[in-house]
This record gives sequence, structure tokens and C-alpha cells, in this order.
Amino acid sequence: MSPRDPIRPAVLNQPRNGIGDVAKLALGNPDVIPLWFGETDLVTPQFISEAAKKALDQGRTFYTFANGVPALRQAIIDFTQRFTGVELALNRVTVPGSAMLGVSLALQCLIETGDNIIVVAPIWPNIFMSIQALGGHSKFVHLKRDHGQGSWSLDLDKVKATCDGRTKAIFVASPGNPSGWVMARDEQAALLDFARSRGIAIIADEVYGTLVYEGKHAPSFLQIATEEDNLFTINSFSKAWAMTGWRIGWVVGPKRLYASLAQLSAVANTGATTFAQYGALAALEQGDEFIQFIVERCRKGREIVDGFVKSNNRLSWAKPQGAFYGFVEIDGLADSFEFAKSLVQNHKVGVAPGSAFGPGGADPIYDRYIRLCFGQDAKRLSGALDRLASGVRQL
Ligand SMILES: Cc1ncc(COP(=O)(O)O)c(C=O)c1O
Repeated sequence: MSPRDPIRPAVLNQPRNGIGDVAKLALGNPDVIPLWFGETDLVTPQFISEAAKKALDQGRTFYTFANGVPALRQAIIDFTQRFTGVELALNRVTVPGSAMLGVSLALQCLIETGDNIIVVAPIWPNIFMSIQALGGHSKFVHLKRDHGQGSWSLDLDKVKATCDGRTKAIFVASPGNPSGWVMARDEQAALLDFARSRGIAIIADEVYGTLVYEGKHAPSFLQIATEEDNLFTINSFSKAWAMTGWRIGWVVGPKRLYASLAQLSAVANTGATTFAQYGALAALEQGDEFIQFIVERCRKGREIVDGFVKSNNRLSWAKPQGAFYGFVEIDGLADSFEFAKSLVQNHKVGVAPGSAFGPGGADPIYDRYIRLCFGQDAKRLSGALDRLASGVRQL
């Protein structure tokens, strides 16, 4: 008899990350214009880096509070108040490290092996990969794209019908990655009511909350929930302050889980990197103007992609209401992964394959799509789109 395999099947059977597999082909190659990841081409603003450097010089190199330094948590509360009008209690905020780690901690609070999470798709693959890694299943509910209206929409009845006795949470990212869809306040209220009635939690991924093209913040679940609700909101410094490499974000959890989230944060990473937290503090204290700047830059990028899509009758998209992605459908495209690879190799432009954003990382629904990040310098973006156009011509 051969000995048993000690490695969990969930790990052995992990789905591939289609975005990473494409990016691996040319990461760091200066000849390729990369639009594959969720980041702009902006370096972190200097005032943020200076604050982190100062923290290093001041010897802030020790362990600190596992749920984040108090000054940063207070600044998160002030930011939330400024942008959403919500007054949070200090002990509801945890800064574990990246937003992705925050997602993972929220899921750890919920999943027992065999449970499922409803995931509104298309969705960034790391979300369903982490559900799978923790022994859960994702049950996908797909946004519907109305080609006439040019928008995505969520059918709440479908969400309700997909929940079963083992559903622990509904994961919804708004503004969405890659769709740019923004969930309306009344839809959030209806979803929250349903979740309350069924004992199901909500994980609201609001990492693109300030990257909206109308108003200064997308509707937040925090604006309608109480601190007793089983609501986890996830936020990040990565996007609005151009800090993707810093790996820092935050979670707002239900009041009763204050100590639990701090403890899970301690177990995962002993909290976020100490000196990075001082950079993040500067972002919140002095960075509102930078947010306006990045939104305007993305708005320009969105218009450039809109013009590009409209000028080519094989392309279409739902013009995004938030975030900084073009999720573009290409008539005649059947294998987005192979196409994305050929774009890198033959046309020197990097995009993410649409198939990465659905079930198992390989959903035929999205195989007609590619995702690109338009939060880029206008000239560079236009150059990248010219390369994409030549790839589409050869398809
Ligand atoms: C929807 C969504 N949630 C979470 C994250 C993770 O953010 P972070 O860089 O802080 O881990 C991303 C990053 O692309 C994202 O798109």
C-alpha cells in the first residue's frame, strides 16, 4: 500500500491564474507595454514614500499592533467619514497587510470545508482561488451585459436562487474588477436584507470605492449596515494611491469579531509591515488630491479606450462606471488565453485573458474578452491600443 498523500487536494488541484501565466512570458521586458495587472504606470507619490522612509529612519522597524497602528486605524476612520459619511468604531478596523490578505481573513471567519460562497462574476481570479484554497466552493452568479444599454447588471433573484444551506457568504466587488460595474444603493439594501434573513454574510470588496466617474465614492455597504451585521468590507491602498507593491489594505468587520480579526491578522502576518503603515498614514492624511488626480487620469484613459472600441466594429464594451479596466469583447475571439499570449509575443502588448475571470479560471463565457488597465499615460495607452488593433486584425 502506498503511503497517503499529506498534501490537501485543494492545494494540489489549484486552478491556474491565467493573468499570471500570460504576464510570466514578459514580466519586466521593456519592449512590452504591460496592461495586464491592476495598476497604473504611476510610481507611489513622493510624500507617501518619504513618510515611510522617515519611519525607517526613526527606527519604526519593530513588531507593532497586529490590527494596525492606532494612528493609521484612526486615519482610516476619518477617511471613511470623509468619503462615505460613515462613523466607524476604531475597533472595527484591522490592517492585516494587503487587501487580498483581508479577503482571506474574512473567508477564514466563514468557511468550513464544503461550504460555498456566492461570487458575483466576472471577478478577479484570486478571489475564487482563495475560496478554493480554504476548502470552499465558489458558486458563480454572472452579471448580465446588456449590449444595447452598454451596462452590466445583477439579477438579485439569481443570487437568491443560487444560495443553499451551505452558503456562508456573498462576495461582491463594486466597483467590479474587471467589469467596472457599480452596485446601486437599493440593490445593496435588497441584498443585505436577504442575507440577514438567511444568516449569510456579505463580503463587500470596495478596493475601487473612490475610483468612480460620478460622485466621490461608490455606494458602500457600510452606509446601510449596522455594526452587528455579518459584513466584511475590504479596502486597499493599492489602487487609489498607486501603492500596489506596498501590500497594505484594511478590513472593517462586524463589531463582535474585533478580537478575532486581530488574532487572525497576528497568525497570518503579525499585521502589516510597520514602516509601510506610516506611508499609508500619509496617504490618508495628505492624499485626497492625489485621488482626484488619479481619477481624472483614469477618466482620460477610459475615453481613449471608448474611442478605440467605437472605431473598430469587432470590439464592444460596457463603458465602466468605476475602476480602471476595459473588459473588451472581441468578435471572433474564442480562446482569450492563446490570444493574450500571442499579443505579448507578436505584438508586444500585455493584456489579461477574459477566461481568467470566471469559474475555474476558464469560463467560455469570458473567452471572447480581454481585460486591460487603462490607468496609464495617454500616449503609452494609445501606443498599446495600436498594438492591440494589429493583433485583432490578425485574429
Ligand atoms: C477586486 C479586488 N480585490 C482585491 C484586490 C487586492 O488588492 P491588494 O493589492 O491590496 O491585495 C484587487 C487587486 O487587484 C482587486 O482587483
